[in-house]
Amino acid sequence: MTVPDHELRRAYNGYYRAAPETEDVELTHVGPGTACGEYLRRFWHPVCLSSQLTDLPLALRVMGEDLVAFRDRSGDIGVLHRHCSHRRASLEYGVIAEHGIRCCYHGWLFAVDGTILETPGEPADSPIRDTLCHGAYPAREYRGLVFAYFGPPDGVPDFPVYDTLDMPDNEMVPYAIDMPCNWLQVNENPMDPFHAVFLHTRATGVQFKQSWEATGVVDWHWMPGRAGVFVTDTRRWEQFLWTRTAELYPPNFAQPTDFNQDASGEVFFNRPCASKWIVPVDNTACRLIAWRHFNAMIGGTPDYDSIGVNKVDFVGQTGTERTTEDRRRVPGDYEAQVGQGPITVHSQERLGQTDTGVAMLRGLLRREIRAVAAGEEPRRASPGADNRIATYSGDFVVSVPRDVKDPEQQQRDFGRALAAILIDTLGLPFTQRQAEVKNRLQALQHN
Ligand code: FES
Ligand SMILES: [Fe+2]
Repeated sequence: MTVPDHELRRAYNGYYRAAPETEDVELTHVGPGTACGEYLRRFWHPVCLSSQLTDLPLALRVMGEDLVAFRDRSGDIGVLHRHCSHRRASLEYGVIAEHGIRCCYHGWLFAVDGTILETPGEPADSPIRDTLCHGAYPAREYRGLVFAYFGPPDGVPDFPVYDTLDMPDNEMVPYAIDMPCNWLQVNENPMDPFHAVFLHTRATGVQFKQSWEATGVVDWHWMPGRAGVFVTDTRRWEQFLWTRTAELYPPNFAQPTDFNQDASGEVFFNRPCASKWIVPVDNTACRLIAWRHFNAMIGGTPDYDSIGVNKVDFVGQTGTERTTEDRRRVPGDYEAQVGQGPITVHSQERLGQTDTGVAMLRGLLRREIRAVAAGEEPRRASPGADNRIATYSGDFVVSVPRDVKDPEQQQRDFGRALAAILIDTLGLPFTQRQAEVKNRLQALQHN
């Protein structure tokens, strides 16, 4: 049914707006052979925490594929199709071997690369081992997370190391959160800084800091080469201009700024409190897999008991840590994103100016998905001279007298100047870049 515009504008129009709608298939369907699934499979994705690989295999589901992950007794990690190549028994019940995993049903043994090492019930001269490999994906471990690459085996990309992943004197604590909704609605949240003002502060009370209630002047910026999008959100708080930056490297890497940050003193590029990926489980579920950072910049000490599988040390991130009533009275990120439904329906939305970043991200993903469908390689973040991919997320608090004539323009100018500095310093190694950003901000401050 096509609904005329005048019906959309009138009161009590539920009847017209209840028309069944279908989701944005191109961006939300992730299974094998789908356009988005093909694009996503060109990247390394975290799949679980290292600590989840015990003496028992771990059943996983990633992008609509049932898998099993394990660490064999020699220490190698396997990420394999879950169902045995013989007659489909689940390798979740397999027996971890010195090299590989043995199916419980008839004892076939699979190496971490899928090679069939033994088919014990078959005749010794059985050709099976030479004619078939079990489904397997390259896997590796990095700082307590297990990553896998799900694309064509001839095109394994370099493993991406972002500059925040090996900061000096930084402790990284892995965690993962299951979310029963499509990956995209969680993934686009970092492009929406306005939700911090409302969801986290004004709507049901202060969840983090009172100063988050100040509405900032927001700009969204393309990274050079359209490698991704980052946001500058600049607010006035007493004598300070305070900019928070957040980035999204496509398809699914983002870093939230420190939730304990306030504008009580000057800060020059305090780095984020977490680095995270949103990995599709299937079309209607995803998993946030991340590290919490702890370092002198952002302070705090890790409470290991409250960071891990389906738990993290800040409010509103999981569906399991609070009662249903608490989640209804003080909804957080989890409720806002999962509450959009299993797959949010874009044609039922009405985007505003504050959704510019969401629209930029969707456009970027759509272009990349179509490029891969056309046989091209997707754009991937490229490392700088120190072999690290420079990132943008952080806090900047600088004492600047208020421009009484046009405070809003002053905020905008400051945010844009900072964005230019962040881009201009991309080529520098991590600590040098931080120092250079500080120098340039101080020069700006005294102009
Ligand atoms: S089903 Fe796995 S060995 Fe037969
Ligand atoms: Fe949030």
